[in-house]
Amino acid sequence: MPDNTKPLPNASLQQDRIDVSTLEHVAIVIFGASGDLTHRKLVPAFHTLKCKGLMPEQFTVLGVSRSQMTDDEFRDHLRTGVQAYCKNKPDECGPWDEFASRFHYIPIDYDDPESYQKIAAWLGSCWDNRGSASCLFYLATPPSLYEPIVAQLGAANMAHPEDGWRRIVVEKPFGHDLKSAQRLNQEVHRVFEEDQVYRIDHYLGKETVQNLLVFRFANAIFEPLWNRNYIDAVFITVAESVGVGRRAGYYDEAGVMRDMVQNHVLQLLTLTTMEPPVAFNATALRNEKVKVLEAIRPVRPEDVGQISVRAQYRARNTGLSYRGEEGVRSDSETATYAGLKFFVDNWRWQGVPFYTRSGKMLSTKTTDIVILFKRVPHLMFPKDYQGIRPPNSLNICIQPDEGISMTFNMKVPGAGMRTQTVDMSFQYDSGFGSDNLPDAYERLLIDAMQGDASLFARSDEIELSWRLVDPILDAWSRGAAPLTFYEPGTWGPRESDMMLARDGFAWPAGCAG
Ligand code: BG6
Repeated sequence: MPDNTKPLPNASLQQDRIDVSTLEHVAIVIFGASGDLTHRKLVPAFHTLKCKGLMPEQFTVLGVSRSQMTDDEFRDHLRTGVQAYCKNKPDECGPWDEFASRFHYIPIDYDDPESYQKIAAWLGSCWDNRGSASCLFYLATPPSLYEPIVAQLGAANMAHPEDGWRRIVVEKPFGHDLKSAQRLNQEVHRVFEEDQVYRIDHYLGKETVQNLLVFRFANAIFEPLWNRNYIDAVFITVAESVGVGRRAGYYDEAGVMRDMVQNHVLQLLTLTTMEPPVAFNATALRNEKVKVLEAIRPVRPEDVGQISVRAQYRARNTGLSYRGEEGVRSDSETATYAGLKFFVDNWRWQGVPFYTRSGKMLSTKTTDIVILFKRVPHLMFPKDYQGIRPPNSLNICIQPDEGISMTFNMKVPGAGMRTQTVDMSFQYDSGFGSDNLPDAYERLLIDAMQGDASLFARSDEIELSWRLVDPILDAWSRGAAPLTFYEPGTWGPRESDMMLARDGFAWPAGCAG
C-alpha cells in the first residue's frame, strides 16, 4: 500500500486508560503453564507490560501444569520464551532475575482436589505477605480441561473471595459446537458470575481491530455511507501462510471453521456491521454485537453448497499436503480453507453479501476487510475512457501492514477524460511508529486485570456464533460443498473464486495487493 501519511506529532501509544496504581497486588494463576501459549504469548506479554511500567507494582504469577519442574526450571523455560518472542529481551529493562522471581511453579494433577488445595495455600501465603486477595485464573490448557478445572476451583471455594476480586480468563476454542459451548457456559456459571468470566479472542486485542470501532464511530463521514444504499459487498480475508505446525492433533479436530471462523472471522464481521453502541463499555458494546449476530442469516442445509467452499492444501508436485502433516489422519476431511457468504438481515445490511475467507498455507499472511462501494448511478464519461474498473473501496488492513486506504477515481492529466484509480492511505507505522503497536495479549491481560470485559466475548455472543457455524459444519459432514484442494502458496481453491464470480464479484487484492 503506498504511503502518503506523515508522522503525527508527539504520537505515542500511551495507554491512558490504564491506571496501574489502582491495582495493588494481583496474583495470576496460569493453568497450562508448561505449554506453548504461556511460553510464546503470555509471559512475553507480561514482560513487555513490566517494561512499559504497566504491570501492577506487586504481581505474582503461579504456573501450574502436569509437568514436573522446579521454580528455577520454570523460570529458565520462561526466559527462552522471552528471548525468542518478546520485543524486550531479558535484562533489557531491569534485571531478569527480579522479573523472574515473581514466577513460581507447582506441578498439579488437574482432577485432584489436593492440587487445588496447594494452589489455595500458595495464594494464601502470598496474600498474607501482601494483604490483597485479587486473583486472575488463566486457562491456557487444552479445552477438555476447562470444565474439570472450573469445577475444582468451585469445589475448593476459590471463586468468591471475601475481599479483592477473582476472574477467570478462558482461551478459545470455547466449546466445540453449540451444545458443548452451552454446556461449558453452564458449568462456568455454576462457579463464576458472568462478569468474572473473560473469554478471550486475541483478535479483539489487536490495535487495528479496535481501530475499526474508532474509524466507524469517531468519524462522521463514513457512517452515513455504511449501509446497503452505498455498499455493494464486503470481503473479509484472514489468510495465513503457515501450515498447522505442531498443532495437528488439535487442528484436525477443529479445522478452519472452529479455529478461525467461529471466533476471529465472525468478530471482524460483527464489528464491521454492528450499530453504534451508546458507550464504550462491556455491556453496550456486547449488546450491539449480539444484536447483529442475531441478524446474521442462519444457513439452510440446502444452501450450504452455494454459500460455502471447503478445501485442504495439497501440492501437486512437492508432496506437501495437509494429510501428510504429522498427526493428521491420512484420509482427513478437515478443511484448512473456508470461503463463505453471509447476509445480515436487518435494515442496514439487507441484500449486501459478506464474503469471508480464511485458510492456512495461503499466498501470504494478511488480515483485511474490504468495503466495496457501489458504482456511480450514471457514468457521464465515454466508455472508452473509463478507468472505473474497481469503483471506490475502503481497505482496512488489520495485519501485517496495519493501516487504512481508500481507492477512488482521478483524472489522468492530459487531453481527454481518462480516469485512473488511486489510493489515499494511512499507515500505522508512519503515523505512530512501528514499535508502538502492542501485542494483542498485552492489551487483553491489562483489561482482564483491570476488570474491563469490553474486548472479551460474552456467553450469548459465543453461543450465537456457534449457532451460525454449526449448520455449515453439519452439512459439510454430510457431504455438502465437497472437499476440494488448493496449491499451497496460492489464494485457495478456484471454487472460492467461482462462488464470488457467480455473483459478479472477485476477491479483492486487499492489503496484500
Ligand atoms: C489462532 C489460531 O487463534 O490464531 C491459529 O488458533 C492461528 O491457528 C492464529 O494461526 C492466527 O493469529 P494471528 O494473530 O497470527 O493472526
